[in-house]
Amino acid sequence: MPSTTSPLTFDIKPSANPLPEADRLKAFESLGFGTLFSDHMAVIRWSEGKGWHSAEVTARAPFPIDPASSILHYAQEIFEGMKAYRTADGRAVLFRPEENARRFNESARRMAMPELPEADFLAAVEKLVRIDARWIPQGEGSSLYLRPFMFASETFLGVRPSREYIFCVIASPVGPYFKGGAKPVSIWVSQDYTRAAPGGTGAAKCGGNYAASLVAQAEAYGKGCDQVVFLDAAEHKWVEELGGMNVFFVMADGSLVTPPLGGTILPGITRKSLITLAHEEGITVEEKPYSFAEWKADVASGKLKEAFACGTAAVVAAIGMVKYPDGEFQISDGQTGPVTARLRDALIGIQRGQSNDRHGWLHTIAGV
Ligand code: PLP
Ligand code: COI
Repeated sequence: MPSTTSPLTFDIKPSANPLPEADRLKAFESLGFGTLFSDHMAVIRWSEGKGWHSAEVTARAPFPIDPASSILHYAQEIFEGMKAYRTADGRAVLFRPEENARRFNESARRMAMPELPEADFLAAVEKLVRIDARWIPQGEGSSLYLRPFMFASETFLGVRPSREYIFCVIASPVGPYFKGGAKPVSIWVSQDYTRAAPGGTGAAKCGGNYAASLVAQAEAYGKGCDQVVFLDAAEHKWVEELGGMNVFFVMADGSLVTPPLGGTILPGITRKSLITLAHEEGITVEEKPYSFAEWKADVASGKLKEAFACGTAAVVAAIGMVKYPDGEFQISDGQTGPVTARLRDALIGIQRGQSNDRHGWLHTIAGV
């Protein structure tokens, strides 16, 4: 697919109506997840023949959408999730943003969408954070969640890849993803629904995967659980991932087990980072299929001591309780275990600039 030569030049158009500072400070007193948005957005357009063009940072505003726009019919859409943090020494940093840029293009390829040069993806994110730097919250557990996304915008009802797309980045100051904050979460093991089949779109971060997960997530809420965990589509046996997070198991010998990447689960950047940190701490990590039957048996026998979910939004969240149609079990004492806590602290320490960024994972945004 044609692409412009990188980097694009962005037209910077500051909002004429930024939120008054007093209102922003008031809103920052009770940060949830994904309800509050910054003043601006970054936008880049793509059309066949022209490639990427019209890059701008402008006041956040609705898009006019034709009722026949292909996104509304065939859901050709992908997104990313990443965070900007304010470090103790005052820098604005992104955590491994080049990993998001790369995964975005992997998702684009799977969804027959044009790839965005990584430099343009990163420039769009950086320019938005720069203009909206006052929207990065300072408090522990809070950050500026960034949501890059791309959708098909051609007015056409035929089923084929769109010939026009809009790429956009919006920013949302957030607190903890789960209402309970850092408390362990409870999860519901879906028996009736699966998330992704072999050959499907499970490894892509496309909106359709989340649409397909919502009925199972609603079932989880109905059972009093925070999140749903999916089993594999072929055998309904192997643990895959949660609706919006990867999963790890901590065994009694201190080793970790996590489901392997095989096309049906999202290759999480948090997952990858935790595997690196675990190795550094001398912890063995096995990426191998692990069944729900084994999970139950290993909790009962004491072979499994902890389990946790991980992702950009939730960071690391201990799993305290597991429910399924025939019963439920608690993991150890239902609290955050020592290995989960150690890995979570190691990751957060780097993300917030409190410990040595020995892997060069932080990307400092200059001039903020
Ligand atoms: N799995 C799913 C389905 C997700 O939505 C996410 C969140 O982005 C993850 C896993 C974790 O990925 P990451 O750590 O890159 O945020
Ligand atoms: C993220 O962690 O960024 C996610 O995408 C999970 C969810 C908010 C969709």
